[in-house]
Amino acid sequence: MEDLDTLRNDLLARVRDAADLDSLEAARVGALGRKGAITALMKSMGELSVEARKERGAALNRIKDEVAEAIAERQTALSEQALRTRLERERIDVSLPPRPEPAGRIHPITQTIDELTAIFADMGFSVAEGPDIEDDFNNFTALNMPEDHPARQMQDTFYMPPSGGANAGRVLRTHTSPVQVRTMLKGKPPIRIIAPGRTYRSDYDMTHTPMFHQVEGLVIDTNTHMGHLKGCLVEFCRAYFGIDDLPLRFRPSFFPFTEPSAEVDIGCDRSGGELKLGNHGDWLEILGCGMVHPQVLENCGLDSTQYQGFAFGMGIERIAMLKYGIPDLRTFFEADLRWLRHYGFVPLATPSLAAGLTA
Ligand code: DAH
Repeated sequence: MEDLDTLRNDLLARVRDAADLDSLEAARVGALGRKGAITALMKSMGELSVEARKERGAALNRIKDEVAEAIAERQTALSEQALRTRLERERIDVSLPPRPEPAGRIHPITQTIDELTAIFADMGFSVAEGPDIEDDFNNFTALNMPEDHPARQMQDTFYMPPSGGANAGRVLRTHTSPVQVRTMLKGKPPIRIIAPGRTYRSDYDMTHTPMFHQVEGLVIDTNTHMGHLKGCLVEFCRAYFGIDDLPLRFRPSFFPFTEPSAEVDIGCDRSGGELKLGNHGDWLEILGCGMVHPQVLENCGLDSTQYQGFAFGMGIERIAMLKYGIPDLRTFFEADLRWLRHYGFVPLATPSLAAGLTA
């Protein structure tokens, strides 16, 4: 059986010395393949006596198993090594800035929506949406502005032409509040949503454009009160403007869809022709809010004796202008690349509370 010992040592040595997967495969074929050394010896056993065949067969099988095991081990080692080499070679640092730096910029409106979404998401709000073309019920009637209600005239509404096919009699939504209606009609409380989006009014000057953006907020539950409204908005304004002690003033106001209603001012200083936010004694209005009117809850299919909640609405351009010092609203929509390069944001720097709202 000496010949078998030599064969075994040779085969194992070939396996051990295989430097890559190809030479290992060659070693395998040389030993166990159809024309391999072990296979050939197995085939030649026919000439032996029964006793000798038994013994030699057993010995060959042992070698075969040993070699197969050695091949499997070597294969694992070589594969791991190949993977390590490849990972090393193809290593990329995903935190490196792209080169050349992307020329595009994120529009301040997109950036502001991303920022406020990050803040409200952290408070447990989700994002709801509605269409830009709304029907009269969602934009007005359900929100406690029946036909002939004077509040309808305050909104400089764009009406779709009466012969406008499927959209006849509809309006370009004048505010994001119809998303409140859609949300309440669709699902049962608890509700906690914000709805950022486009809104339209026929108006144009330094602080008005026919298309602008608002964000709506709506919270409905069984024991929601004005303290929640206040806490939520104080929290938001301080996080968004990044001023920990930013004072907020809730001034009584009127909206048909809330009772009581309030307008919210934030602290500022306007002396010296420059606007500075913070605790400086002067005030600047930034949003409207209130407790959802029981009639609105009922219009949207909710039992007003069981549920109540608060809502708020805010102009997105306005809070972007205040935070980023953009003086003229109309420039937002002029598609001037120089403006966008100046006021825009680097893509890939997604705002989050953990990583910072503005990069
Ligand atoms: N929809 C109002 C507007 O366009 C803003 C607003 C005020 C929304 C008070 C609200 C609210 O949800 O409670 O001027």
